[in-house]
Amino acid sequence: MSRKPFIAGNWKMNMNVESGKKLIKELIPLVKDANCDVALCVPAILIPEMVKAASGSNIKIGAENVHWAASGAFTGEISADMLKDYGVEYAIIGHSERRQYFGETDESVNKRTLAALNAGLTPIVCVGELLAERENGTTNDVLLKQLSVGLKGVEDVTKVVIAYEPVWAIGTGKTATDAQAQETIAFIRKTIGELFCPKCAEKIVIQYGGSMNAGNCKGLMAQPDIDGGLIGGASLKTDFAAIVNFDK
Ligand code: PGA
Repeated sequence: MSRKPFIAGNWKMNMNVESGKKLIKELIPLVKDANCDVALCVPAILIPEMVKAASGSNIKIGAENVHWAASGAFTGEISADMLKDYGVEYAIIGHSERRQYFGETDESVNKRTLAALNAGLTPIVCVGELLAERENGTTNDVLLKQLSVGLKGVEDVTKVVIAYEPVWAIGTGKTATDAQAQETIAFIRKTIGELFCPKCAEKIVIQYGGSMNAGNCKGLMAQPDIDGGLIGGASLKTDFAAIVNFDK
């Protein structure tokens, strides 16, 4: 069994053309010998310039969302084909901020995931429990629903990346402990085995996200079921390179 680690940044609603290009230029030499896949998911409007800035390097560009329809009357939305057209390879789907502020549901996550796969994008599907859910012991129930509804009808689940992001750890500086993250990601992997197939569970890449940084990435990445990270705050700086180089 070999899963290639995958470290992805999530710029959220940060950066502009100038600062984005500058950061990518600085990152290119720092991450060029990475033993993992590397991506930066950036605001839609920055995609064309960031794809250009990263071209010829091992940094791939991703989107932060994708619409489920191929085209049509969806003012303000962007389809998977439009993203592909600009050289995008990944799309974050169902990030907790989209669930919290933009009415994202497991059902809409499912539609977006199927559309992304259909267009040849790799979806990074985010799941994770709220603090209250962790405290009342329903974490696994929440994850089971997010996975079974969010991934319904997916033919080859190994083409999906899952990001486990406990909502209470995002942007709070509170990381899940190595053991908490490992235990929950092992549960996610087992669930994928039950919903799809045991081989799929062995192959699928599962990231941890939530205040991951240069200091805590080694411990998290040493866990047997954690294959990578989805990095918010620390992807806005060259610190991101230290996470990419977690094994050096
Ligand atoms: P954070 O964000 O690293 O700033 O906690 C992670 C994410 O939201 O993907």
